[in-house]
Amino acid sequence: MSNKGIYIHIPFCKRKCFYCHFVKGEYDAEAIEKYTDALVNEFRIKANANDAVDTVDTIYIGGGSPSLLNEQQVSKIVTGLYKHFTISTNLEFTIEVNPEDVTPAKLKALRNAGINRLSIGTQSFVPADLHYLKRTHSVQQSLTAIEDALDAGFSNINIDFIISLPTQTQKTLVNNLSILEKVHIPHISAYILEEVEDGEKKNLRDEALYFFTLDYLNSLGYIHYEVSNFSKKGCQCRHNLKYWKNKEYIGVGLSASGYEKGLDYKNTENLEEYFAKVNAGCLPRAEVNRGDANFRGIVVGLRLLEGIPVNHFAKYPGELELLLANGFLIRLGNKIAVAPKKILLLNEILTYFVPGS
Ligand SMILES: C[S@@+](CC[C@H](N)C(=O)[O-])C[C@H]1O[C@@H](n2cnc3c(N)ncnc32)[C@H](O)[C@@H]1O
Ligand code: SF4
Repeated sequence: MSNKGIYIHIPFCKRKCFYCHFVKGEYDAEAIEKYTDALVNEFRIKANANDAVDTVDTIYIGGGSPSLLNEQQVSKIVTGLYKHFTISTNLEFTIEVNPEDVTPAKLKALRNAGINRLSIGTQSFVPADLHYLKRTHSVQQSLTAIEDALDAGFSNINIDFIISLPTQTQKTLVNNLSILEKVHIPHISAYILEEVEDGEKKNLRDEALYFFTLDYLNSLGYIHYEVSNFSKKGCQCRHNLKYWKNKEYIGVGLSASGYEKGLDYKNTENLEEYFAKVNAGCLPRAEVNRGDANFRGIVVGLRLLEGIPVNHFAKYPGELELLLANGFLIRLGNKIAVAPKKILLLNEILTYFVPGS
């Protein structure tokens, strides 16, 4: 039995960014305090359901804006995790932070609480991009957050970029990414801006800017290992690898998803319902599905540039040959991967493997 991960969602932000589709409400000191207690209750419910017998070796606190949690709330969550789960000593423990929310004291408190990986929502080091995104932080606040994080003892740091913005050109991208030559950051996420229109996610993809980013990061020594993720050697995100390698993880909090015992589940997105269910001792699940495990493995696994074992395609010999012959998929030893230049066509490629189609 392999070790599990835990994802914990913090659904509060000071302001809602117009392009963001993650579940969040506006920050409210009272609600976040009540929510922290509810999370610990949800840990207890999982433990009582005897779901917490496996060792946990990755924890990821994401959002929303987890950096809105105060020191006592972080400490309550960490104490609750250790009380209700078996936590490995070889733990990767990440928290997402907004650059404008962190101070040297706050970062030290996070580090002292046992958090050893930071994901900073920098988005861009070009003022015009931040202005387009209507972010409330400045380039300087991102640089200060990185410096303060290093001083606080974080060496495992990710920074988020959003690419393919209307304000971006190859020239401004060079200004943006060249900052990485001066600061030691082992992990980069570069997301193509995705907007939601009429309930549908729309990728505003500019392929040229995406592939330019790939080449530029590669020239700085970052290995492209997942559609949107890059790392220096040995610094891949262990938690997110669990998603892409089809491993089990526990989802806790409003709207959190999990995958355990072959079941995909998702918690409710309604905060009042979440409080009511958890405080009544019930798991706050809105959906539970047992999908096709092999298809699930293909969907998540082909996001990795290293690919997945060829046996995943045993049911699809014709489709596999066609996609190989046309250069959409490639063989890497006994694995099948998406051809790097076709990675943005992943969704189209996956349609060939939908069960029953
Ligand atoms: C959900 S946010 C949480 C982190 C933090 N609240 C922040 O914004 O800095 C994680 C990351 O998702 C990315 N993101 C959010 N909405 C996006 C969108 N519509 N398209 C592409 N990336 C997006 C941003 O890079 C952001 O840093
Ligand atoms: S701060 Fe982060 S989570 Fe909150 S709305 Fe903006 S992008 Fe989304």
